[in-house]
Amino acid sequence: MKVTVVGAGNVGATCADVIAQKDIVHEVVLLDIKEGIAEGKSLDVWQTSPINHYDTRMTGSTNDYSKTAGSDVVVITSGLPRKPGMSRDDLIATNAGIVKAVTENVIKHSPNAIIIVVSNPLDVMTYCAFLTAKVDSSRVFGMAGILDTARYRAFLAEALNVSPKDIQAVLMGGHGDTMVPLPRYTTVSGIPVTELISREKLDAIVDRTKKGGGELVNLMGTSAWYAPGAAAAQMVEAVVKDQKRIFPCCAWLQGQYGLKDIYLGVPVKLGRKGIEEIIELKLNQEEKALLSSSAKAVKEVMEVLDNMNVQTVVK
Ligand code: NAI
Ligand code: 2OP
Repeated sequence: MKVTVVGAGNVGATCADVIAQKDIVHEVVLLDIKEGIAEGKSLDVWQTSPINHYDTRMTGSTNDYSKTAGSDVVVITSGLPRKPGMSRDDLIATNAGIVKAVTENVIKHSPNAIIIVVSNPLDVMTYCAFLTAKVDSSRVFGMAGILDTARYRAFLAEALNVSPKDIQAVLMGGHGDTMVPLPRYTTVSGIPVTELISREKLDAIVDRTKKGGGELVNLMGTSAWYAPGAAAAQMVEAVVKDQKRIFPCCAWLQGQYGLKDIYLGVPVKLGRKGIEEIIELKLNQEEKALLSSSAKAVKEVMEVLDNMNVQTVVK
């Protein structure tokens, strides 16, 4: 199996490193437009193989897509990250040009690849890759929900003083402040979280989760990469190992949850074919209303993209 990660910046390099350490594929190709950076980071990661005990071969490439040919999975992380004061949506024009150019090259060299988008604004960049790739939507989806639920689960583990491993949760909607964490579907080893924490504390955690990306941007002056890189690598693992894992992912909806022609975060089954099933939960009225307002916010940005004549950006 071969995996390509496009963008050797913070998220891409971390993702490639985590995939290599999992020892689940034969080769990881890391590609970036900046001269030498992907080659350098690949070499650095490869030199951890004797220490971390894995066989995954690392290849770096400065914009030479022939090296990515025949990839089974491609993760797209290329694009500008968020800076303080910037919303994810501010990134749309620049990153759409980048994602479009990258997707064209990816599909040309790996026509059968599963494409996982990470670049922001996530839901709309996934839509952009889907429009460009012109392949079945089961093969083009986005990473956000695993990261957002990981933040939610980590905050809960801290508040309850329990292992984060025991916290299971579902979160839906767009990757933005309108995301919809679902306390009703959150458990600690099967125990409903609402039996273990006060409503007030839970509401504060939900609120912190929604602003989780911004919290890190404000602390670091750029967006996060350890958890995003690990989250994308977990999706790659589910695909290459055909694990049939249930994760919240940004998927193309065609009537599910009463929503059509929109990329939005929903629980899906991930396996070798990509999104093998979209799982429809029985949401209550309040949850439906929150999901609908999140969908409205995402749709508005998708329309911005639809009305934009996106120019391919190669640098
Ligand atoms: P970064 O700036 O560290 O890395 C981006 C890399 O993309 C740079 O090395 C740049 O040279 C490369 N690049 C730009 N244009 C390219 C092109 N045409 N072809 C190939 N490479 C190109 O940024 P970072 O922190 O890695 O973030 C990457 C993206 O991921 C951003 O859009 C960020 O907002 C997004 N992100 C999304 C998350 C999510 O949950 N979906 C979480 C964290 C970040
Ligand atoms: C994050 O959630 C900014 O999307 C980025 O960390």
